[in-house]
Order: sequence, then structure tokens, then C-alpha cells
Amino acid sequence: MVQTADIKIKKTSVSRAGSIDFTKVTFGSVFSDHMYIADYLNGEWTDARIVPYGNLPMSPALAALHYGQAIFEGMKAYRAVDNEVYLSRPHDNFRRFNMSADRMCMPLLPEEVFIGGLFNLINLDRNWVPPSMVGYSLYIRPVMFSSDNIIGVRPSATYRFVILTCPVGSYYNKPLRVKIETDYSRAAHGGAGFVKAAGNYGAAMKPTKDAHDAGYDQIIWTDSAQHKYIEEAGTMNLMFVLRNKLITAPLDTKTILPGITRESILTIAGDNKIPAEERMITVDEIIDGAKKGELQEAFGTGTAATIARIKTIGYNGKDYELPPVESGKISKKIYQVLSDIRRRKMKDPYGWMVKV
Ligand code: COI
Repeated sequence: MVQTADIKIKKTSVSRAGSIDFTKVTFGSVFSDHMYIADYLNGEWTDARIVPYGNLPMSPALAALHYGQAIFEGMKAYRAVDNEVYLSRPHDNFRRFNMSADRMCMPLLPEEVFIGGLFNLINLDRNWVPPSMVGYSLYIRPVMFSSDNIIGVRPSATYRFVILTCPVGSYYNKPLRVKIETDYSRAAHGGAGFVKAAGNYGAAMKPTKDAHDAGYDQIIWTDSAQHKYIEEAGTMNLMFVLRNKLITAPLDTKTILPGITRESILTIAGDNKIPAEERMITVDEIIDGAKKGELQEAFGTGTAATIARIKTIGYNGKDYELPPVESGKISKKIYQVLSDIRRRKMKDPYGWMVKV
């Protein structure tokens, strides 16, 4: 079994960090010098190592490619105003990763493999964490996939866990036009909508492309049984400010992702006297609210997206314009608190930020 001390490290001969303009990279396209790998063989996690970032060898019979046993996480490291590096809520991502592993019949990761590897990797590549500027961070992508080379349909006996990282700015750089989807579904009861399974994203590609072709940036998914209730967007959870109250879909349907940013925002709202509710939200009340001018704000929340403001909601062929995003006081206040906690401009009352 891997202990943190067992992680072998092979460093790259020359770091590429100095040649990168962090303000110019396209999200998720430039990767840091190193990656972390561990393999699951003979019932245990073994051979944990940090190596220069590069390609992995692959057989065309790789089980993950055929049957989709693949899960991932999205997390971020921030540079604080005092130049130190902090991870945001790493243990929450670790717990959610194992919840995804369990649902996809994959082996759980021990804390020393996930957290131990993560801290070693971020420490080694700390020069890749962008300077302390609002909206900039090092995006961290842990991924696990089945690695048996066999075409029979069964849970794989072997798995590979990899963490790769990339410096990023905003995922969305403008207010969004989103379309309420009432034909396709993302998740059904009993499905895997509450975990970060790669297949959830693959199945969303076509509906999202259709929405792009129709002039929208993203989809708002609705419940698969009736298309009556709002669930989440393709890359983030959703929140609305309706008649001065912050509302978001509940987790107990098990059809949406239990977002860590979602949870942070609800906590900040609670502590800043912003009335907030997790409850079923009907499409009708959102459209009605938009028509009457009572829908004051709508935004997506996620690790990559942070807070992505929505300016237009399309439904049944009609577009509903929301008030200018600049007037959104609640999302602005919450974004500022979240960003100040992450950059340690203000005290972190929740113990979310963990120093690397
Ligand atoms: C994240 O927000 O980290 C995600 O994993 C969403 C992603 C598909 C960009």
C-alpha cells in the first residue's frame, strides 16, 4: 500500500513555467511540468509516482474506452496575497471522488494516495500557480479509469489514477445565454447524475452542441420524467435570485452533482444574511419570474466556472432577458467573499483553505 513517503519523484530537466503568460492561456490547454500517477493492481494501490507530464501508453482494448468506467474531479489551488499556495477544500473533492468511484464500481482511493499525491504534486509545481489575481488559479484534474485490456463487460481488475494540473483564468469570459432543455435528459432517478462520471459529460455533448448551434452557451437540464423542474447546467450547478431569495435545486433527487462551490456559496449566503433555499424549482416559476421582472439574477456555480452569470434564458423558442448582470448584487457579494477567502485577503472562517 502506498504511503506518502513512498511517492517516487522524477523531475523534468527544464521547467516550462517561466515561458507561460498565465493571462493568455485557454482554459485547460496548457499543462504543468509534472503529473502524478498511481496504479491499482492485485487489489491494492501501488507504484505512486510523479513524472514529467506526457502521454500514457494505451491498448485499443483499454476497458475505459469501451465501457466508460472513468471518473474525475475538478479542484483548484490559489496563490494567496502573501504568495503562499493554498488548496481549496481538497478533502471534499477527495470524498466526492470516492463517492463517484463507488457508484462506478471502481476501487476507493486511500487518503494517502489521493491527498498525499496531490500535495506532493502541487508543491513540486508551485511555480505553475498563477500570481494572486482575482479569477486566476491552478486547475487540478484528478482522473481514474479502468485499465484492463479486455473486451468482456465486467468491472476492470486494474485501474489508473492520474492528477494533472493547468493554470487557468475564467472558464466563461462573458455573461451566458442558456437554453432550458426539455427534450434530452442528463440524469434519471437511479442513474449516475450525482457523480462525476465521464459518461455524463459525453452524453451531454450533442444536446449542448445543438444549443450552441442555436446561439446558446449552455443548457439548463430539467428532470427526465416531466421536464418540469430545473436541475443543473452542463458544467455547473445553478442558482437563481427570485424575489430577493437565492434558490437552488436540492441534492436529494440524486440527479445533480453535489457541487462544492454550490455548498460554499450556500454557506456564505447563510452567514451574510442572504435568504437561501434548496428546493425543487419549476421551469414555470423561473419563466414567470423573468416575465414579471422578479427574476433578479441567475448564475452557474462550479470549480471551473466559479460564478458564471447568466444574461438570457431561452425556453420553448423564446428568449427571456434578465436584468443586466452588473446589477446582480447577491452574486457580486458572494463572489467577492469567495475570492477574498481563496486569496486570503480575508480570514477564512470555515477552514476551507489548506496550505501547501
Ligand atoms: C469543474 O467545474 O471542475 C468541472 O469539472 C466542470 C468541467 C466539466 C469543466
